Amino acid sequence: MLTWFYQSLKKMKLIIAYIKPEQLGDVKNELVKSEVYRLSVTNALGCGRQKGYSENYRGNEREVNLLKKVRLEIAVNDEFLEQTVEAIIRGAKTDHIGDGKIFILNLEECIRVRTHETGPEAIG
Ligand SMILES: Nc1ncnc2c1ncn2[C@@H]1O[C@H](COP(=O)(O)OP(=O)(O)OP(=O)(O)O)[C@@H](O)[C@H]1O
Ligand SMILES: [Mg+2]
Repeated sequence: MLTWFYQSLKKMKLIIAYIKPEQLGDVKNELVKSEVYRLSVTNALGCGRQKGYSENYRGNEREVNLLKKVRLEIAVNDEFLEQTVEAIIRGAKTDHIGDGKIFILNLEECIRVRTHETGPEAIG
């Protein structure tokens, strides 16, 4: 009874992470260890608060330098959020500037094209 209602209370998140390209292998390994196998990866250009320059750069403050980053997108059911984010951090962290940033968004819906499944069933 009311299955659709309880279903609609379950929430999903979209994790978007920008990481150093050289850390992608480590991040992937950590995700697999945490049983996260579904992800999308694209190349990106970006800069954070150092405007793409190293810490002791003393140049034109108005310029930004776009650095190569890798963008990960992972959609998860809420119960997988913590382990997924922690896995990304374990793999991406080198303790240097530019290690990356992780954004977490509420995800409205998800549809598996082949079966028309929606929501939490479609994500996993
Ligand atoms: N506010 C933001 N909006 C969009 N993308 C961002 C933002 N902050 C960081 N990024 C993306 O994340 C990448 C990595 O950011 P970065 O790790 O340099 O963050 P930071 O805030 O400068 O922290 P740190 O001081 O550790 O370098 C950037 O190159 C950019 O692609
Ligand atoms: Mg930075």
